[in-house]
Amino acid sequence: VNILLSGQWRADDQAAWQQALQAALPAHRVLVSRGEVADAAIAAAIVANPAPAALAGLPGLRLIQSLWAGVERLLADPTLPADVPIARMVDPAMNQAMAETALWATLSLHRGFPAYARQQADACWQPLPQRRADEVPVLVLGGGQMGGTAAEALARQGYPVTVWRRSAAGRSPDGCRAIAGMPALRAALPQAQVVINLLPLTPQTAGLIDYGFLAALPPDAGLVNLARGAHVVDADLLAALDAGALGHAVLDVFQTEPLPADHRYWRHPRVTVLPHAAAMTDHRSAAAMAARNIEALAQGAPLAHLVARDAGY
Ligand code: GLV
Repeated sequence: VNILLSGQWRADDQAAWQQALQAALPAHRVLVSRGEVADAAIAAAIVANPAPAALAGLPGLRLIQSLWAGVERLLADPTLPADVPIARMVDPAMNQAMAETALWATLSLHRGFPAYARQQADACWQPLPQRRADEVPVLVLGGGQMGGTAAEALARQGYPVTVWRRSAAGRSPDGCRAIAGMPALRAALPQAQVVINLLPLTPQTAGLIDYGFLAALPPDAGLVNLARGAHVVDADLLAALDAGALGHAVLDVFQTEPLPADHRYWRHPRVTVLPHAAAMTDHRSAAAMAARNIEALAQGAPLAHLVARDAGY
């Protein structure tokens, strides 16, 4: 089949994706622009946050495969063809990378390494009390591919892990306590020493992490946002850190990316900034995952990891 590759990326990135995808799909043709074949001959699109309207007017389109795990920007395009199935990227290599970042951030917060970094800046020699992992409850927001993988890795490390889902559906990750719904979340916050956000961004989860949320945590707790910047109300997070209502924040994602040079997060002593690098897409494994769905489409087999448009993920 003919596959349109569409995204907003640098030319070298586009070339790398085309190469990886064409190698994974030798029987098919990966195009980087419309016009190389008739619009009606394009059966699938592989996309990474394509420009608005990039997929409009493709009458033969039968699958939109995202190279991103989070599809909220794709879904926000009003010209997105209404009845074409959308699949999000689910890649075990990305799940593993995300679990590594969640582990690093949790170990770091648990053992006080951000505090030691602040002390080093002041040439201050001061050992801090050492807690055991089983004394550091971790709350993971989101029990999907990434939340579940991270939660299981944390539980294996000895942390008491609670996994929160907004709605009750789904299996509970091994070794973790599963909870669902807003009342259960409110009840869990005062116990959580580390909160790791791995929720999808939907109208229901945007702004979830506001002042009330943060103030309900113990004052020395840490927040780790690995999902989307819009889950957090930035002014509330800064206010909570400044008021001593929260100990530290590890942030990988922001409302505006790249994070503007004058943003307070960059220089805040209680914030660790990462450049949306918690789990970068691996061209080879993501291309292989996308190729699997394209082959399924070509053979009329069931498609994997389809997005429920009304749920938003
Ligand atoms: C990255 O943030 C993704 O959604 O894949």
